[in-house]
Amino acid sequence: MNVTVIGTGYVGLIAACCLANSGHQITGVEKNLTKLTMLQQRQSPIYEEGLVEILTKVIDNGSIKFTDDLALAISTTDLVIIAVGTPSLSDDRVDLSQIFAVAETITALATRPLTVVMKSTVPPGTGKMLIDRYFSQCSQEISYVSNPEFLREGRAVWDWYNTDRIIIGTHNQKAANQLNELYADLAAPKVHMDVTSAEMVKYASNAFLATKISFINEIANLCEYVGADIDAVAPAVGMDNRIGKQFLNAGLGYGGSCFPKDTKGLRFIASYYGYPFSVLKAVMEVNSAQKIRGMRKLLTALDNNLYNKRIALLGLSFKPGTDDTRESPGLDIAEMLISEGALVQACDPLALASAKTLLHSEQITFHEAPYQAVAGCQAIILATEWPEFTHLDWQKIKNSMQAPYVLLDGRNAIPKESIKNLGFHYLSFGRQTD
Ligand code: UGA
Repeated sequence: MNVTVIGTGYVGLIAACCLANSGHQITGVEKNLTKLTMLQQRQSPIYEEGLVEILTKVIDNGSIKFTDDLALAISTTDLVIIAVGTPSLSDDRVDLSQIFAVAETITALATRPLTVVMKSTVPPGTGKMLIDRYFSQCSQEISYVSNPEFLREGRAVWDWYNTDRIIIGTHNQKAANQLNELYADLAAPKVHMDVTSAEMVKYASNAFLATKISFINEIANLCEYVGADIDAVAPAVGMDNRIGKQFLNAGLGYGGSCFPKDTKGLRFIASYYGYPFSVLKAVMEVNSAQKIRGMRKLLTALDNNLYNKRIALLGLSFKPGTDDTRESPGLDIAEMLISEGALVQACDPLALASAKTLLHSEQITFHEAPYQAVAGCQAIILATEWPEFTHLDWQKIKNSMQAPYVLLDGRNAIPKESIKNLGFHYLSFGRQTD
């Protein structure tokens, strides 16, 4: 099929490259000229495992091209995928301005019948609004499909090929058939429903995963009071198939460009209808409190005073495997440390460049190597469980630190055995370490 993908951020670029790799003819539309030039030169503007290899392959075999000319792209296409950004506004509403601009342009420029597929995360009700406001006014017939994605950053290419389900939200049979054809090579079940339900599936999935994380964080906190061990509790709870093992890792809480934004967005929609959605509110509160709980642990271990104390911060990306620092717990911790007067020595395998643009203080220095970052520090905070950090030589680390050798494992990720008996003041979430 001839497909135009509008927007080459995380979602759009993965979709464009993987669809081209499946034999479709793809035009990727990108209005940012720096990004466009990079893509045309086979460079990916984002880090994603396996992506550059596919990008190079599909450019070389001619199944993808990139342009900033949307009018030209849609004049030769059957299907248009929208994958532009939908960030949060300051009042938690979802900013749909890029979606509206694209919908308006498609409506004005369409010269043939089109199927418009929404891959950007948009609040339930958006599709109906777009149809009413724009697509129903077009001189050409436009069919609309909500087709949310469930890709995780850092695993997005793998997730594309191994997705659990493909959601196809439309009552238009012709459009549904086109989507079946688009994804013909993927084995996942194709689940058909109406537009608004498909939009809700995306929000409900992310909100539920965020709920799992906040729930296990509360259980971990309670483990500390009653003397239980989350390392024993969480896996055993997850062995119940109805609950499942994933997303039960306690620690500093969730970050990233999706869970914080989508939980806020869903809460806003609920409040718009006057519905309190108490569970979601609690999930968000617990997530914020978890970072403060980590900071309290550190403060207590350092006599409630961080002023002029050297602290190593390992991890600035919101999770391992990505250079993305959006809503990263590591960045929040860095800001809290700076405001307490600490001298922060930060390290991350991929996110240093991005963090440097966000953290401006003479109190912070950035380091490539973890052994360099910990030198002379009284405490270390592990904020992101990069394998580069979880399997360090802890004796060597301790030798270059200063007393009292505090180690706050914000991800419960350091093997307990490797720090036992080394003389660290080890802190974590809900774990028994004695
Ligand atoms: C998430 C969803 O997992 C994807 O399915 C979805 O497509 C994506 O959002 C999106 O809406 O685009 P992502 O934000 O890339 O993907 O990252 P996750 O792997 O889900 O992790 C999110 C955050 O939760 C990270 O900060 C991670 O450290 C934290 N987390 C995850 C925990 O604190 N504990 C866990 O057990 C699991």
